[in-house]
Amino acid sequence: MCGIVGYVGPKSTLDVLLGGLRRLEYRGYDSAGVSIIAPGSGLQTRKKAGKLDNLVADIEAHPLPISHIGIGHTRWATHGAPTDTNAHPHLGGSASKLSLIHNGIIENFAELKAELLAEGTKFSSETDSEVAAHLIAREYEILGDLPTAFAKVVNRLHGAFTILVIHEDEPDVVLAARKNAPLVIGLGDGENFLGSDVAAFVEHTRRAISVGQDEIVILRADSVQLQSFAGAPVTFEEFTVDWDASAASKGGWSSFMAKEIADQPQAVADTLMGRLNSDGSVRLTEVDGLSVADIKAIDRIIMVACGTAAYACDIAKYAIEKFSRIPVQVELSHEFRYRDPIVTPNTLIVAVSQSGETMDTLMATRFAKEQGAKVLAICNTQGATLARESDAVIYTHAGPEVAVASTKALTAQITAGMLLALFLGQNRGVVAQETLLQLGQELLKMPARVTKVLENLDDVRALGREMANAKSVLFLGRNVGFPVAMEGALKLKELAYIHAEGFAAGELKHGPIALIEEGQPVIVIVPSPRDADSLHPKVISNIQEIRARGARVIAIAEVGDEQVGHYAEHVIFVPQSENIFSAILTVIPLQVFALELSTAKGLDVDQPRNLAKSVTVE
Ligand code: F6R
Repeated sequence: MCGIVGYVGPKSTLDVLLGGLRRLEYRGYDSAGVSIIAPGSGLQTRKKAGKLDNLVADIEAHPLPISHIGIGHTRWATHGAPTDTNAHPHLGGSASKLSLIHNGIIENFAELKAELLAEGTKFSSETDSEVAAHLIAREYEILGDLPTAFAKVVNRLHGAFTILVIHEDEPDVVLAARKNAPLVIGLGDGENFLGSDVAAFVEHTRRAISVGQDEIVILRADSVQLQSFAGAPVTFEEFTVDWDASAASKGGWSSFMAKEIADQPQAVADTLMGRLNSDGSVRLTEVDGLSVADIKAIDRIIMVACGTAAYACDIAKYAIEKFSRIPVQVELSHEFRYRDPIVTPNTLIVAVSQSGETMDTLMATRFAKEQGAKVLAICNTQGATLARESDAVIYTHAGPEVAVASTKALTAQITAGMLLALFLGQNRGVVAQETLLQLGQELLKMPARVTKVLENLDDVRALGREMANAKSVLFLGRNVGFPVAMEGALKLKELAYIHAEGFAAGELKHGPIALIEEGQPVIVIVPSPRDADSLHPKVISNIQEIRARGARVIAIAEVGDEQVGHYAEHVIFVPQSENIFSAILTVIPLQVFALELSTAKGLDVDQPRNLAKSVTVE
């Protein structure tokens, strides 16, 4: 939540900051602002409520001078409404020479503010962030050394924060501090960058350093210094960003979401690449730290995640239990963390997160580690906090996901979950190896099948447009189709602001069937008729039950399902696959349905109201 960018170097700072904010806007879009220091005109700040375009228009109308150092912020409001005055940056000191941006929450701001108020400090905003700006400015006036003043104040702040500061009297340095909120450094040639994630600067450099917890950065054009909050020097490792700038741009699509839906064959293929051999065997070098003995000792897996990522876990659970016979529990991270769960050293925690910065998931994994469990992350973002703090990471190679609603990250997470399931199965040896190898070979065919799904979406698009005025849509599924139904409902809620619910089809008769009335749209995920567990006839019966009560049924079924057309009003066909992998295919029409319906309502699909992509507060 909140996007942060900082720059020092020879380029036009404003271009770097606004370009970075454009790429970070998915993190929050309530307001945006920049501060620069320009030779001759000192510290200059502009900030505007609303989307980044408002700020850009303001700067175009009243241009800022050329400068070579600055900071920029895009906000997801926590303390104080999204107004011009509450927008970041915030200025500190009586002469307003210090500028600060902040992502996170300063939990002890009230007591710090009282201290400043008692000294007569005047506040211009309702934010917790402004307190830090005044405190640092005050310490600087006393101590005369900006890094020392900065370190002194960040040590006094409680909560979660990334803070960036510049000061008019020190026009060659950007200071940054990180505690429980993300921060990455981009290394250039005679220039350096800071960002909430690498998207902030990937256009300029792919050399990066991930800043650790409780660390301070002293950034100049020609040097990068890292130290702990206590002042001890910190060694760091550089990594190469494997995204390129074009991956984080719309590239001619009407929205990032549309582009990211279309990216899915690649996202699935890249996540499989190098991990699944042509004979179906799985190589996961990432989990080499776990020996066969370790894997045999695992007596339970707990998967923790939130939102869409939690549905990826729900889907993976079916495969892990089926292939490895290890019991799997899926937990929403925030519920898991605060209910005194049972975790032992033989529990494997699998934490799934696109951003790797979701605070709920970080808190859950930290807690589990304290109980002695090993943590395996499935994460899409290099250098993310979750990746750093886990014992092992399986990266999903979906590339940057910019639209707030997750699409390609989900299909990549499901793919990684399937790889993990096969890997565990192959190492546990309780299911016939031949079966697992055959399944592995099937998984290799999924990218091509995803492409086929994308080629046949005209009907679902038309349905989305036609249903723009629907008041409520229900989704049903069984087995892996159940979490897909939940995901379909979530997409519709968040993108089209329509009441939507996903149910296990078998649960319908236990209550939800009372919701069915004449004309109620119900989207049903129909399992393969070839499935050995005979789920198909059960779902067909469920369709008949709701049809009899007036529902308008839209089925997502596999090619060759001749029966379903007799019972559903519309059928969207996806290619045949093993039922256990089918979620990778059946979820796509639901993404497109929500996208189309939201677009038909004239809504912003990339930036739905009240949401932010990376939820870095609990
Ligand atoms: C919904 C969506 C969210 C995220 C959730 C977890 O479309 O994107 O529900 O899935 O906030 O985010 P990550 O995966 O970054 O931990």
